[in-house]
Amino acid sequence: MGIQEEKKLYIETLGCAMNVRDSEHIIAELGDKENYVLTDNLQEADLILVNTCSVREKPVSKLFSEIGKYNLQKKEGAKIGVCGCTASHLGKEIFKRAPYVNFVVGARNVSKIATAVNTEKFLSVDIDYDESDYAFGDYRNNLYKAYVNISIGCDKKCTYCIVPHTRGDEISIPADLIIKEAQKAAQKGAKEIFLLGQNVNNYGKRFSSSTHEKMDFSDLLNRVSEIEEVERIRFTSPHPLHMDDKFLETFAHNPKVCKSMHMPLQSGSTQILAAMKRGYSKEWFLDRALKLRAMIPDVSISTDIIVGFPGESDADFEDTLDVMRQVRFEQVFAFKYSARPLTKAAEFTNQVDNEVASERLDRLQVMQDTILDEIATSRTDKIYPVYIDELRNSGFLAGRTDNNALVQIKGDENLLGQTIPIKITNPKRLSLYGEIVL
Ligand code: 5AD
Ligand code: SF4
Repeated sequence: MGIQEEKKLYIETLGCAMNVRDSEHIIAELGDKENYVLTDNLQEADLILVNTCSVREKPVSKLFSEIGKYNLQKKEGAKIGVCGCTASHLGKEIFKRAPYVNFVVGARNVSKIATAVNTEKFLSVDIDYDESDYAFGDYRNNLYKAYVNISIGCDKKCTYCIVPHTRGDEISIPADLIIKEAQKAAQKGAKEIFLLGQNVNNYGKRFSSSTHEKMDFSDLLNRVSEIEEVERIRFTSPHPLHMDDKFLETFAHNPKVCKSMHMPLQSGSTQILAAMKRGYSKEWFLDRALKLRAMIPDVSISTDIIVGFPGESDADFEDTLDVMRQVRFEQVFAFKYSARPLTKAAEFTNQVDNEVASERLDRLQVMQDTILDEIATSRTDKIYPVYIDELRNSGFLAGRTDNNALVQIKGDENLLGQTIPIKITNPKRLSLYGEIVL
């Protein structure tokens, strides 16, 4: 085979961290096997990829107008591919609705991307395809922090959620592969390792083969922390149901595990949680969150909330606000419920009026903004070690405190990859601005 000419890839990534990592895998595969390099100029691209999300309806409906636009703007002969969760969910319907699309590759079929670009109308969206032993090339968006997958898929049956249909059953990736990948990233300068899975603290329940070493998530955290070059470990998403004492204690006591926990509440009402099939009650959630606060005074807790789930009454919604008041989350990702195909909740007959849901979401956000302002103000003049991992277009260097608060400073680029003490001089709701302490 002769030397291939360099080709240009434009890739747009929607959705969650899992998709960001899948895009890195795609970029690595296409770079290694097909000689693609990245471009952010759509018009010069030989290949345009959209890595899609299907968790809510709006981005799905926007997808077709967007790729329609790309089709008009692209250079002659350029290909368009649709990847990710909407590819899994809609499959060949994408060709029907957008006949100019060249290939469709589902969220669980990333390893087929090189074949896809060379096969007209290639379609691969099966979810029984087992990628749990997969290993891709090295591409990473950011050298200082590295995403590492620890599992794929999701075994939960949350009644609102399309993800089990797009990403398939949950399979844990063998620990030795995870450690190898983390080691490799750390040796290249990533002092922060970000472990990824739909349900990370359920790690170890099912491997692709019985020969793989048995291990739970707490053990895995400890194992990753033994890598010398790794200074910080984060993970997302854990499930509140699996937050047993062993997990909370490992989280609290391992000094390399960053003290920020994502606890997706979804609803504060035990009744709505049951209708969602979340497997825990309001009391269990509060018990776990408040225990964390008691064990680790500086812990930050973030959450996801769905407002207007079918059957949600005013009293149910008040329960959600009550949990928010008691836990005082450092970050809340709140969404209006969106009925998704293939899910149980889409068939429930007690859907909540859209205006009611909007009004609740507004109330929730006003309340949360007040909490965030109070938290930000309380950080004035505090000094935090911050791991600087990004130079922003604004010229600010950005990084995170151990407990995940975003901090920005003016400073020299050679601070990237270093942990430095920063005094907070100007705390804003979404970012703390500060100065280096000399
Ligand atoms: N409607 C609204 N939000 C949803 N999420 C998942 N499914 C839906 C849906 N059908 C939210 C949940 C989840 C986050 C990733 O997206 O809060 O934690
Ligand atoms: Fe990620 Fe879920 Fe969106 Fe898929 S549907 S990209 S798993 S958030």
